[in-house]
Amino acid sequence: MEITLNSPLDMHLHLRDGDMLKLTAPLSADFAGAVIMPNLVPPVRTPAAMQEYDARIAAAMGAAAFTRYMTLFFTPQGEQELLAAKNTPGFFGFKLYPAGITTNSEGGISNIAQADTTLRIMEELEIPLLVHGESHGFVMDREQEFLAVYRHLATRYPRLRLSMEHITTAAALQLLDEFPNICATVTLQHLIITLDDVAGGALRPHLFCKPIAKRPEDRDALLQAALSGHPRLMFGSDSAPHPRSRKEACGCAAGVFTGPVALPKLAEIFAAHGALNQLQSFVSDNACRWYGLQPVQKTVTLQDTPMAVPTSYRSYGEQVVPMYAGESIGWSVVR
Ligand code: NCD
Ligand code: ZN
Repeated sequence: MEITLNSPLDMHLHLRDGDMLKLTAPLSADFAGAVIMPNLVPPVRTPAAMQEYDARIAAAMGAAAFTRYMTLFFTPQGEQELLAAKNTPGFFGFKLYPAGITTNSEGGISNIAQADTTLRIMEELEIPLLVHGESHGFVMDREQEFLAVYRHLATRYPRLRLSMEHITTAAALQLLDEFPNICATVTLQHLIITLDDVAGGALRPHLFCKPIAKRPEDRDALLQAALSGHPRLMFGSDSAPHPRSRKEACGCAAGVFTGPVALPKLAEIFAAHGALNQLQSFVSDNACRWYGLQPVQKTVTLQDTPMAVPTSYRSYGEQVVPMYAGESIGWSVVR
């Protein structure tokens, strides 16, 4: 069995910077493009910094054709700044982080009312707002508690292009159905694992991420929504590499590194459920239609011959451990 995908997109990707960028960028090059997260140290806040980062990503990708949809770290801004961002080549949207909620998000927003003027202008300018939707409550309840904020945003700014990033709960899916003006991304790991896989037996730090994996019924609902071709649910890997030493450590950093396994594993899952015909929508068409994207034309063919996943990827003095390290995946990319 095989499937050829047209211009697959990863709608939420962390590529980092420096040597880590050089190591990880080529490992996402089977995608035609990606929405690039801005949570560097310091975060990418200005169009100038964004363009410089974009150029470093382009260099790290080498010859691979890859459309970079760049994001800026959300801070309250006026119309001139927003217009400047919108007119910067490569700019896609703003990523809003609640202050301190995840890796390098200390400069985020602590009260959504601070963002009101900015969001009004973004609505007018049709600038997408991507949100890391977690409260500071109990870790299993954070996403559910944040749904009130999404509801507020979707109601108060009805024309805002709002994305719930990396949703992990059945409740978030219900909100998606309630508000036709919201879209959402979901990761590979949240279609597959639950909290049990992370911490139910021996602790598995490479599966630890924010938002944390939830309950079986959440995972099942997300998987069903993806397999059934929900038109506003898009693949966003949230592939978030950290050095091996920061994952296999006391105080393990949050993030699952899925870039190199994402497409083969998605093909395996969709094929196992007889839903290969929905994969194109999930990994490209839904996003292209919703945002009006035109990524580079590129095809990738996947087939049901196994991929042996390396125990780690290392170069430029960096080492990262992917999901399924040392294991075999049922599908692979045809080279
Ligand atoms: C991400 C990271 O490491 O940058 N970590 C994660 O667990 N997902 C940040 C994020 O998207 O929350
Ligand atoms: Zn992320």
